[in-house]
Amino acid sequence: MKQKYWLPALLLSVALSFNLSAAEEKFFPAPGTHFGVFYYPEHWPEAQWERDIKRVAELGFDFIHYNEFAWARLEPTEGNFDFSWLDKVIGLADANGLKVILCTPSPCPPAWLAQKHPEILAMDADGKRLQHSGSRLTGSLANPIYQQYVARIVTLLAERYAQDERVWGWQIGNEPHIQIGSDYSPSAVDAFRAWAQKKYGTIEKANEAWGAAFWSFTLNDFSQLNVPSSNPHVYLDFEMFTSEEIARDLIDQAEIIRAHGDGRQWITTNYAYYKGLPNVNPFLTRDALDFASHTMYISHNISLDAGDSLSHRLGAGMEFSLGTELSKSVSGYTGIMELQPGQINWGRFNAIPLPGAVRMWVWHAFGMGERFVCTYRFRQPLYGMEQFHSGIIQADGVSVNVSAKYFVQAVNEINALEDQLNPAATHPFVEKTRTGFLWSPRNILDIERYRHNRSWDTWQHIYTWYQGLKRMAVDVVFLAPDDVFDPEQTPFMVVPAYQMMSPELIAKLENYAKAGGHLIFTTRTGLKDDRGHLWEAKIQQPMWPLVGGEIRFYDHLPAGRPGQVALDGGNYSWHLWGNVVEPAPGTEIWGTYKDQFYAGSAAILHQQFGAGSSTYVGAWSVDWEMEYALLRKVFSRYAGELPFDLPPYVFADFRDGLWVGVNYTDQTFELPTASRAEFLVGQQALEPGGVSVWRE
Ligand code: GAL
Repeated sequence: MKQKYWLPALLLSVALSFNLSAAEEKFFPAPGTHFGVFYYPEHWPEAQWERDIKRVAELGFDFIHYNEFAWARLEPTEGNFDFSWLDKVIGLADANGLKVILCTPSPCPPAWLAQKHPEILAMDADGKRLQHSGSRLTGSLANPIYQQYVARIVTLLAERYAQDERVWGWQIGNEPHIQIGSDYSPSAVDAFRAWAQKKYGTIEKANEAWGAAFWSFTLNDFSQLNVPSSNPHVYLDFEMFTSEEIARDLIDQAEIIRAHGDGRQWITTNYAYYKGLPNVNPFLTRDALDFASHTMYISHNISLDAGDSLSHRLGAGMEFSLGTELSKSVSGYTGIMELQPGQINWGRFNAIPLPGAVRMWVWHAFGMGERFVCTYRFRQPLYGMEQFHSGIIQADGVSVNVSAKYFVQAVNEINALEDQLNPAATHPFVEKTRTGFLWSPRNILDIERYRHNRSWDTWQHIYTWYQGLKRMAVDVVFLAPDDVFDPEQTPFMVVPAYQMMSPELIAKLENYAKAGGHLIFTTRTGLKDDRGHLWEAKIQQPMWPLVGGEIRFYDHLPAGRPGQVALDGGNYSWHLWGNVVEPAPGTEIWGTYKDQFYAGSAAILHQQFGAGSSTYVGAWSVDWEMEYALLRKVFSRYAGELPFDLPPYVFADFRDGLWVGVNYTDQTFELPTASRAEFLVGQQALEPGGVSVWRE
């Protein structure tokens, strides 16, 4: 995005804007998406910096990212600081019209620090201390000495750059988490004991919450509290403690930068892999950071993809979508801090992306509203851990990579479209179907620890519902349990397998439905209280008013012997979880079991609830089609005509007055656009790896 186009667009957005927050407008006044690259000056001879940075600008990017992991370059020996190289590359960026994102180097404590204070390094669950040996995110966040050294380097960076007009914003750390999941060092254990004492006050209360009577776990005082713990409630507390430590590190660093700044620069971190890092919760830094950015590696196969003949080349589009909407939900806007420009070195496969796939990823990011997209990385490294990771530029330092040329293409296509964007545009379908999605890592961790059966996968359950919503092209807003549930903002709300519920949260859901919201909730929801204990009641009994009936029991079948649920003439197989429910008078039975000894009993109930409705889905179908049929039934009843019926992994997103369609499958899909659709990019036939942009 080039600055010269800002003014007219800015006036338009100021005049009409009602869908951007003040903070988003302040930091991203121009419509559209900024594009940039990661550049590590410390990896390249100084003589090449000018050439490289100039090239970044020439390719169409408008910002550059520096200083990630560079602690040893900034402070080669204790107390000897060298910022001259950073000053120089910031100057070069500015001379080439590039804004700068600066990163704090906290994930990489230097060798001298680890040697002098080995206690700053985290310990694994077997009590083995990590070493300074080329890894990262190894620090013990709970260790006060580590905290002091981090504060010192961040303070020096902030003193120097927090009011520098050439610096656009800050990334704190990198992909917040602890390299080994959790830290079991004495610093962490002490801090956890203090955390537990603060939470519970007395050991008696803690014992009660932990169900310590079970197998004589009972503690006499907090000094006896050990981790890792087999007790599920202590396990969950320790994970929450770790989440909070990760957040606290970010908050401490943000406070330092903010204290030195003038409010003009934004502060974020790059959250990652929500499925892979379940004890990281971006909502915990909502107040301290301006927004949550995120990283996106779609060809990694950690997550789900379409599972067809091109998936290894097109990547995990559903995770792209979910990761973006989850990050965006924290503050209402987001940016991608890392997007792969081609092959990566750590996926299950390292297939070269389908020609055009990288372009599609960039367009998908644009369509989902990303305010910036930064690619990881500009140059392919010659040495180190990521030699097989492509960059925009090949190892020769000058040639654009075979896949990355599609990145550059998309950047230039999107930049050229800038005067077509109308940030104030809304779409009636999008507005009336926006859906809240109740989300809490704590719930996911609790289920995943003791699932009831090993084939249950909570993330698959979440994706079942998320995918169904995206097939209708519905906007999803992830809601933390303490968020406001407002039917005006999110007329629909999906609550999938939300196992732990407090009476207050149940009341909040009831109030949401009473006020006109349409609530869809599923198996396991409210099975336990907020401590993770089963209610001393019948199964899910506190949920029964919202269920619109009584839950009798749950069943689980072998995968090879599934049962069937009938819904509106369709039969759907299930085996992982099935609740048999009995409707109260006035409740509609939507789905019934076709077989088992309870054939004819209800599986899905729907009722009016105040001015809204509630739908309870007691079974989980094998191919996720029952959930999709159910969503369509609820949405068409309450939102009217549904313009999209997309196959999984074809997406349509509305942004700034345009629809952006992308296709992660191996089949061409004919877009159901209205006859008056005007295509700006592509056409109605959306090919594998293709992009179509249209306006109605
Ligand atoms: C990310 C990480 C980057 C880089 C990249 C390689 O997860 O944040 O620093 O290692 O992976 O794909």
